[in-house]
Amino acid sequence: MTGLRGEIIVPGDKSISHRGVMFGAIAEGITELTGFLNGADCRSTIGCFRKMGIDITHDNDHVIIKGKGLNGLSKPDTILDVGNSGTTTRLISGILAGQNFETTLNGDESIQTRPMGRIIKPLTAMGSDIASIKDNDCAPLIIRPSKLNPIEYNSPVSSAQVKSCVLLAGLYADGVTKVTEPVLSRNHTELMLKGFGADITSINKTTTVVGGPKLFGQKIQVPGDISSAAYFIVAGLITPNSEILIKNVNTNPTRAGIIKVAQEMGGKLELLNERVVSGEPVADILVKTSELHGISIGGEIIPTLIDEIPIIAVMAACANGKTVISDAAELKVKESNRIDTVVNNLKAMGADAVATEDGMIISGGNDLKGTRIVTKSDHRIAMSFTIASLVSANDNILDDSDCVVISYPDFYKTLENLK
Ligand code: S3P
Repeated sequence: MTGLRGEIIVPGDKSISHRGVMFGAIAEGITELTGFLNGADCRSTIGCFRKMGIDITHDNDHVIIKGKGLNGLSKPDTILDVGNSGTTTRLISGILAGQNFETTLNGDESIQTRPMGRIIKPLTAMGSDIASIKDNDCAPLIIRPSKLNPIEYNSPVSSAQVKSCVLLAGLYADGVTKVTEPVLSRNHTELMLKGFGADITSINKTTTVVGGPKLFGQKIQVPGDISSAAYFIVAGLITPNSEILIKNVNTNPTRAGIIKVAQEMGGKLELLNERVVSGEPVADILVKTSELHGISIGGEIIPTLIDEIPIIAVMAACANGKTVISDAAELKVKESNRIDTVVNNLKAMGADAVATEDGMIISGGNDLKGTRIVTKSDHRIAMSFTIASLVSANDNILDDSDCVVISYPDFYKTLENLK
């Protein structure tokens, strides 16, 4: 069997691309993003800020934002459409809470089922007048003007979206806002806001931000998304005779759990050319076909690989022995219930997979067969089961293959080029 061989560049990091647009809009002067992820989610963020009067030039992976400062947004004349994007919804709500105009946010069917109580609660505690219009703690959300007070918030979930929402609202509060989370989640907001000039500090799991800063436009080179690289890391490990060099990947430790997990499972994976770009660690990742074995994955590593669990589960199905994934109940409230979507599709392929309350147990090594994959229009499910198909007896057929546009529009093309 010829394997997957070659060099690839994955698209820009989704989390960093969203933040670049948002922080650029509320900073003074020009922010220029190169390597921007031109996926549907990040385009939703651009659309929302354009509706609030921000001039944004967008050409593929190049974005120029003419920021108007912390109080320069204007009232949109329609609702803000967040599409499928949880990051847009939760982060922008923190900014909208600080505006002197009313806004309504809504998105697609999936977004209207995702929990927003987790941001409504702290924003309300800060004095925001925010409500779920259907009173079900989901979008559509309405946010009316109010004066924000700083808070010290102990978040019950390790969610960078919740943390970022409160920190962004904190920019509009008079005083010091503090957020503590149970386990450290991705810290791109903290790193990038500091770069824009905010007075923000993090010690262990607590971040403190001072309200009312002047933010200044920045030039940001967005590194490649490790969540997109993850599909090719696993593809290289599980496909015989493979060697793939994945260039320019963000290896921020709050995101890079998949690297540790793949290495612990016996994966031959090397980080080359390690460097820092726009305040974020970056490396090239060389991955080769490997004999893998099952491990336990739980505890503090989970937030650092939460979006990679679907593809990690595929890797586990190709490893010898048992992999136990725990402490990952958050998977149930992603774009789909990813415990169910992953386990059901793995079982349909002939794998031994069992759902648990907070994760799954996979006993690897069964022969996999192609089947009809129920993606629930979840981009990460579509990509994970396309990779699983590389080692199955016949091909998987996805019920929705187009949903990859959310985070990785060229995914299939990149995969074909490696064959
Ligand atoms: C994101 C945070 C994560 C992640 C999502 C992007 C972000 O969500 O799953 O894809 O950019 O802040 P949570 O913070 O809710 O876990």
